Amino acid sequence: MDKIRVVGGRPLEGTVRISGAKNASLPDLCAALLTDEPVRLSNVPEVRDIRTMGRVLAAMGAEVDFRVGGVVDVKAGSLTSVEAPYDLVKTMRASVLVLGPLLAREGKARVSLPGGCAIGARPINLHLMALEKMGATIAVEHGYVEARADRLHGAEIYFDTVTVTGTENVMMAASRAEGVTLIQNSACEPEIEDLAQMLNAMGAKVSGAGTSEIRVEGVERLHGASHSVIPDRIETGTFVAACAIAGGEIEIRACRPQHLRAVLDKFREIGVRVEEGPDNLRIRAPRVIRPANVTTQPHPGFPTDMQAQFMTLMTQATGTSTITESIFENRFMHVAELSRMGASIAENGRVAIVSGPTALSGAQVMATDLRASASLVLAGLAAGGETIIDRVYHLDRGYYRIDEKLRGLGADIERLT
Ligand code: EPU
Repeated sequence: MDKIRVVGGRPLEGTVRISGAKNASLPDLCAALLTDEPVRLSNVPEVRDIRTMGRVLAAMGAEVDFRVGGVVDVKAGSLTSVEAPYDLVKTMRASVLVLGPLLAREGKARVSLPGGCAIGARPINLHLMALEKMGATIAVEHGYVEARADRLHGAEIYFDTVTVTGTENVMMAASRAEGVTLIQNSACEPEIEDLAQMLNAMGAKVSGAGTSEIRVEGVERLHGASHSVIPDRIETGTFVAACAIAGGEIEIRACRPQHLRAVLDKFREIGVRVEEGPDNLRIRAPRVIRPANVTTQPHPGFPTDMQAQFMTLMTQATGTSTITESIFENRFMHVAELSRMGASIAENGRVAIVSGPTALSGAQVMATDLRASASLVLAGLAAGGETIIDRVYHLDRGYYRIDEKLRGLGADIERLT
């Protein structure tokens, strides 16, 4: 199994290019199931979760062609199966995004129920409630969601918790349902807007994406389309944090600063110099990092997917920072590993109090999920000596060659295979 070795202490300089957003590409790939015509996606990041989604679609009989340079062609001509099997869903819970499209197109779907994961229980009850309101009959048997519907119909759906993939599943189902669907308290993430753009390019009638009320007028059929995926805002934020913690000055290209308003404001608050262009950022690390309080929230709030990286940064701030995780109940798994490197973090339920600055020292560490792994890479950049990060497959699920990109900025980092 690959490991990553980082030797801390080198400031970063140069330019890094951001890849396409994993969490936009995943629903976009599933949307291709809504038509039998060819769909072409570009700016898709070549990360492991995308390959896994390719396998999920291929298992249903779709032709999925990964081309060089982040282009993926999907043709779901006629489907041979409507099942997302346990073996795939257990490796990637986003596989549940096939549920809406399959129901809308085939009138049936059999999707393994994802179990809990490292960051929380993560139920899908809201996805199921919404699809039932749209006329689906749903049973959970033998660990599988068995869903059926002759033809889905429009409905008024209110989510009492904001759910990103739940909103996406309903948008896709509603795009081919009969009548109008209103999704209230919908997720507002940029990835939702990206999916709406893709669905509309396929002939759907989706409006309001990016706000908390989305309206979808169902159409009889959707057609093929080409769509370019938005840049990954979490990868962007991770590189801002990398520069802030390692020191130096970098330019981040091919990003979308307006998708990171809360994150960039927080970085400014702690002293990072951030200059924004329309699709690039210039970042200069502060000499002294100020502490800050952060609470994770649905978009446009501070994203939970940046919480671990920000916590690592706060270990280097002068003073006390409070970090509250309000989205997932168990997303502090990095705390123990950061503590092993010398951080001073008191954890109390969903609140972590970070006292800084503490000198970090390199250690052998191991991560349990994607963003926690990224936070350990950042810790390695600031630590004295060598840090070895185990279980790099977590990182590879969502970051395209993060080791190579950091090495391009002057970091002393390598992958041990
Ligand atoms: N929730 C329910 N019932 C549901 C659905 C969600 O109670 O039916 C709860 C969850 O347990 C959680 C909260 O609602 O407490 C929000 O979960 P959400 O459904 O929004 O999360 P998700 O759609 O499963 C996506 C991203 C995650 C990201 C979250 C929050 C994708 C593929 N995944 O997950 O990304 O953390 O939204 O922004 O889009 C990552 O990339 O590292 C990652 C985990």
